[in-house]
Amino acid sequence: MLFSTPRGVRDILPLNSVLYADAEDASRKIFAAYGYAEIRTPIMEVSDLFIRTIGETTDIVEKEMFLFEDRGGRKLALRPEGTAGVVRSYVQHSLHNLGAVTKLFYIGPMFRAERPQAGRYREFWQIGAEYFGNAVPSSDAEIIILAKDVLKSMGAKDLALYLNSIGCSVCRPVYREKLLAFLEQHKEKLCHDCQKRLSRNPLRVLDCKNDSEFILGMNVPKSVEHLCPECRCHFEGVKKCLQNAVPGLIVAAGSELLVRGLDYYTRTVFEWRPAGVVGGQDTLAAGGRYDNLVSSLGGPDVPAVGFALGLDRTLEMMTASQSGTPPDKKLVFVVVTGDNVLAKAFSVLHTLRESSFPADGLHGGKSLKAQMRQASAKAARWVVIVGEAELARGVVAVKDMEKQTQQEIELDKLVEYLKRQTNG
Ligand code: HAM
Repeated sequence: MLFSTPRGVRDILPLNSVLYADAEDASRKIFAAYGYAEIRTPIMEVSDLFIRTIGETTDIVEKEMFLFEDRGGRKLALRPEGTAGVVRSYVQHSLHNLGAVTKLFYIGPMFRAERPQAGRYREFWQIGAEYFGNAVPSSDAEIIILAKDVLKSMGAKDLALYLNSIGCSVCRPVYREKLLAFLEQHKEKLCHDCQKRLSRNPLRVLDCKNDSEFILGMNVPKSVEHLCPECRCHFEGVKKCLQNAVPGLIVAAGSELLVRGLDYYTRTVFEWRPAGVVGGQDTLAAGGRYDNLVSSLGGPDVPAVGFALGLDRTLEMMTASQSGTPPDKKLVFVVVTGDNVLAKAFSVLHTLRESSFPADGLHGGKSLKAQMRQASAKAARWVVIVGEAELARGVVAVKDMEKQTQQEIELDKLVEYLKRQTNG
């Protein structure tokens, strides 16, 4: 019997995993520059954690969680997102005692039993950040710009910001009633799912793919028109911080209808999407403020804001548009012309690695032609050919695979030569 991966999950094979690793490295540099420290939380959590935080009437909780019982009958879930686990950890370990603010980032797989399609998987990778302990508008702006900078570090260009405020526990109930009353009048035009959940979660209708045409065609009440003075002032503050830091930044048309598929948000919600792309699985990064989540899990009254980006989607978009910067690996591939120089060639390979050159080669007993083919397949930048006659003269042949030129270099000057080439 041949086994293959379960529906909607994939192997990330070496040619792709290098893209993931590079993107993760790039994001770590940005997080360090912004002062975020890494947190690793478990892939499984008690399922109630997600029900309590993400919300009972959300698609994630109603239809998409991978639920199971452990051998002791405890109800567990594979994490569908990262925020709930990070907040659980923040409360469990009293991280608020470590300082006035806590800034954390995470990288890891998440699991949602969605209908698989391009850019939407049942196991997918998120890179996210959570900023605890700051309620001022500049912290929302920091997270929004951090998300963009992390996307840009992976080569993403031309991003559009969707930004909205969905209010707080004071103004949202008023807006909710207004929206509900409006949607009730048009109930028969809504899809089956929305008709069912209308009274429980009317804001979700704004986010429904099936009803988007109807929503866009109607003058639906907007949350920004119903903000209390504090929320309005906060939202203006966020926009002002963004405009000051990134002059010319435009908030995309249609932002007033942005709501998110998770219930924990208060005030600011946002998404970064590729500019000019409509429809499809196009949101690359998303997040918002969640000022009540920490206290709702038994922690202190600590405000927070965060984001997560979909790594699979981001990398796919860049491969498709080829706007990503290909990793500059500078691989040196050592080939050998016969068994009698194998030991010497091995020491050349070893010296290169010790000198911090990515180096590979000596793929046993193959013809020179086959080794050269392997070097091309590995996208080597240089090939070092170790031959008996050349060794006798103290030299090796170095082929520049990019320029398609070849020259002899003294063996003890090889590292120095390659370093010069790299810097030049
Ligand atoms: P989310 O919008 O559910 O937010 O997911 C964030 C990103 O993860 C999406 O914009 C998308 O790029 C990616 N994503 C989601 N589902 C899938 C999927 N099935 N396949 C591929 N990629 C997917 C959150 O998860 C929040 N925890 C974000 C956050 C952090 N808010 C505050 N802090």
